[in-house]
Amino acid sequence: MKIIKTLTIVTTIVVIAIVGFAYSGLYDVSASSSHSSIVNWLLSTTSHASIERNAKGIEVPDLGDDALVSAGVNDFDGMCAGCHGAPGQDPEAMGQGLNPPPPDLAESASEMSPAELFWVTKNGIKMTGMPAWGATHDDDAIWPVVAFLTKLPDLDAAQYRNLLESASGMGHHANDAAVEGHPHEDAGHSEDKPAEPEEHDHSTHEH
Ligand code: HEC
Repeated sequence: MKIIKTLTIVTTIVVIAIVGFAYSGLYDVSASSSHSSIVNWLLSTTSHASIERNAKGIEVPDLGDDALVSAGVNDFDGMCAGCHGAPGQDPEAMGQGLNPPPPDLAESASEMSPAELFWVTKNGIKMTGMPAWGATHDDDAIWPVVAFLTKLPDLDAAQYRNLLESASGMGHHANDAAVEGHPHEDAGHSEDKPAEPEEHDHSTHEH
């Protein structure tokens, strides 16, 4: 009985201390200050474990198709490079001001599986600047970006520009051009159907 009583008192004190700390304003939420190493460890460990767990069971389509990669490079340039940068290209002002900073995706792509890259791109990461692209994009509009990301670690600045130029017109960020020949074309990607504007789920997002 005595142990239970002591535990109840200790728990109450801890809860009051946590709530008091939250209201005190002592925790610095500014993006310009860095996390302490303990908070950093806790957040990144939690994040990596969550990504690994959630990516299990995701079925990865064939990502080797050149048309898919071409579509992906345009989408990457329009949707991701502003925050993450690209070969030979720093992140834009918005990306430079984020905390945690958006990592170089060439490094991420060499460490993460396609399923993990897909899951993060689709679902985003809470309490960071990483958006859930799945809120506005179907899976079939996300896989081309993942296909491109698998090539990213091998690209230098010139190769990136070349790929971007040769991919002109591909991907949903290039004049709604159909992604010719890729196995998922049309499947649920409303921008491939300009004749039905009421299904156009990208109308509110611009780059
Ligand atoms: C508004 C800024 C922003 C945009 C735009 C953005 N990201 Fe991110 N992204 C982030 C931030 C910030 C993180 C770091 C989150 C963290 O540290 O947990 C991140 C993390 C990631 C990660 C995890 C990397 C790792 O090593 O853990 C992947 C993968 C990723 N983003 C992919 C993308 C893709 C693909 C796009 C484009 C479709 C994109 N991001 C667009 C801000 C952005």
